[in-house]
Amino acid sequence: MTTHDAFQISRRGLLKAGAASASVPALSGASTAAAAPAATPAATPVNLVVNGRPRLLVLDTRTSLLDALREHLHLTGTKKGCDHGQCGACTVLVDGRRINSCLTLAVMHEGAAVTTIEGLGQPGNLHPMQAAFVRHDGYQCGYCTPGQICSAVGVLGEIEQGIPSHVSSDLTARPLLSAAELRERMSGNICRCGAYSNIVDAITEVAGANPGGKA
Ligand code: FES
Ligand code: FES
Repeated sequence: MTTHDAFQISRRGLLKAGAASASVPALSGASTAAAAPAATPAATPVNLVVNGRPRLLVLDTRTSLLDALREHLHLTGTKKGCDHGQCGACTVLVDGRRINSCLTLAVMHEGAAVTTIEGLGQPGNLHPMQAAFVRHDGYQCGYCTPGQICSAVGVLGEIEQGIPSHVSSDLTARPLLSAAELRERMSGNICRCGAYSNIVDAITEVAGANPGGKA
């Protein structure tokens, strides 16, 4: 018997054993007519203020904020890249702070103000950060761009509030608007097209310092 034959036999045996064991609960279930019903997911009302508009949703408690925005409110500007907190494509602003919406449950944000890319600005009335991304060519395919722009708006808010980053040399001084600071603060937003330099230029322009971002 070859190794291949042995594998075939043992695989067949495994399948038979698996089929037999799988049928046991089915048979025993048939003999006990009152089997316990499958648990249904809990739904709960959630109030959010999305882009300035109060919204009441009834959601499975396991619904991420990202899915609440995309699947329930049809705000598809917010992108699902990895769904694991690794790419930043799903970044939105919650009560003014940037957050990966795939990593948080909607029910955790009862009453919160959520701003998505649609709420920042619209064609004809762009947010300054959106306009700067366009001017500086801060994107190619555009998939990461809504998250990049929401994150960039959040970054400038953090700098304004004096929140230091990993590369801030003086934790007590107002953070610099250097390219190094911006790159560090934007490092959670991945761009597979590699538009990073132009993104830094766009953010720097909006921040009003050192156009070109070559600090
Ligand atoms: Fe949320 Fe990638 S989709 S971090
Ligand atoms: Fe394509 Fe960033 S513009 S991934």
